[in-house]
Amino acid sequence: MAHDAKPQPATARRSPPLSGTARVPGDKSISHRSFMFGGLASGQTRITGLLEGEDVMRTGEAMKAMGARIEKRGDEWVIQGVGNGCLLEPEGPLDFGNAGTGSRLTMGLVGTYDMTTTFIGDASLSKRPMGRVLDPLRQMGVQVVDAAAGDRMPLTLRGPKHAAPIGYRVPMASAQVKSAVLLAGLNTPGVTTVIEPVMTRDHTEKMLRGFGANVEVETEPSGVRHIRIEGQGKLNGQTIGVPGDPSSAGFPLVAALIVPGSDIVIENVLMNPTRTGLLLTLQEMGGDIQVLNERSAGGEDVADLRVRGSELKGITVPAERAPSMIDEYPVLAAAAAFAEGETVMLGLEELRVKESDRLSAVANGLKANGVDCSEGEASLAVRGRPGGKGLGGGIVETHLDHRIAMAFLVLGLATEKPVTIDDQAMIATSFPQFMGLMRALGAEIADQG
Ligand code: S3P
Repeated sequence: MAHDAKPQPATARRSPPLSGTARVPGDKSISHRSFMFGGLASGQTRITGLLEGEDVMRTGEAMKAMGARIEKRGDEWVIQGVGNGCLLEPEGPLDFGNAGTGSRLTMGLVGTYDMTTTFIGDASLSKRPMGRVLDPLRQMGVQVVDAAAGDRMPLTLRGPKHAAPIGYRVPMASAQVKSAVLLAGLNTPGVTTVIEPVMTRDHTEKMLRGFGANVEVETEPSGVRHIRIEGQGKLNGQTIGVPGDPSSAGFPLVAALIVPGSDIVIENVLMNPTRTGLLLTLQEMGGDIQVLNERSAGGEDVADLRVRGSELKGITVPAERAPSMIDEYPVLAAAAAFAEGETVMLGLEELRVKESDRLSAVANGLKANGVDCSEGEASLAVRGRPGGKGLGGGIVETHLDHRIAMAFLVLGLATEKPVTIDDQAMIATSFPQFMGLMRALGAEIADQG
């Protein structure tokens, strides 16, 4: 696996204006779900635009281990699903590598099956809390027969003969937890209800409905959502075109804003409102981002983004916005390093349990490069230096975290001195084309060692 290999450092240096048109890979959340729901549904599912990153491929392997047939034909992935309720017991452990989404959603998907399933992952994934998914599954009758201390992986689930439907209020803003409970509900008699106090990305609800599941969503005036899924219904294979990942788009987007004189277009970006927090924030900071060719594709809004080098100013990013940009804080911090004044980011508690403790990884990476910042329990304040004078020159520890790696390479495109990251290998989990795409726009990023 990539992380067992020798580290591959990389260095980004101050670059000439970025220009050109880029197309980021397919959305990671939708790609995982396309493999999972396609593998589960009856009949054929065809997918174009899938993210072929390591994380998504692990989910594909897991679905194959449980009976789905998945193959690539030309540009298209073609899946023959098993039918809802018909997954097979895997012969060996399911290895999810670095992927939190793949592992947590699959725990929900298979937990309620009358079979034994073991989940393993890399050093980063093995540190991440799984109790948030195991707790509701236990309420449904799933036994955790083995787990590392603190409900961590490696862990083994044993499903009940008949799972019990539950009503579950998700205690933290997490689309993964919401999704795991809904997927457990697919193989459970009766109606399983998830109560979501703060709306998170809604791909599971939307896509399951597209596959024919009986899913109802009711929103209280306060915004609290009640999502009900009827178990044991039939799912039918679908044709899916995966739009570009707004989280991946964040890297060239911020790069173009901070490198003076840049002018780029990023095409076919998913504009689902549960995912556009970064765009809004950067626009509030004064970023010149034009949303072009807004259109609908496969039930989702997409658009092209024209981005030009901009003078940014610091703002306060409210805690309520965190769910709609939870993966984008590392790259926002890179933008904030060049903004006039202070950028304050609130409501960041979930950043502590991502592929790394992203809050401290970001703060430490900024400090190593001379950026003035302070890390709170669940907040980050960055005091920027327009022009990047005196910034850079540090080595960033990425802690097996793809987004830390990419965010700091972006930072180094506009700092006075170069920025080095200790390892680029994890970038392949979500954005294998990152280096090529950035270099084609004019970014100066070199491999080291
Ligand atoms: C995801 C949900 C988020 C996000 C992750 C993808 C998903 O995680 O950080 O990259 O596809 O459901 P949480 O649910 O832990 O916030």
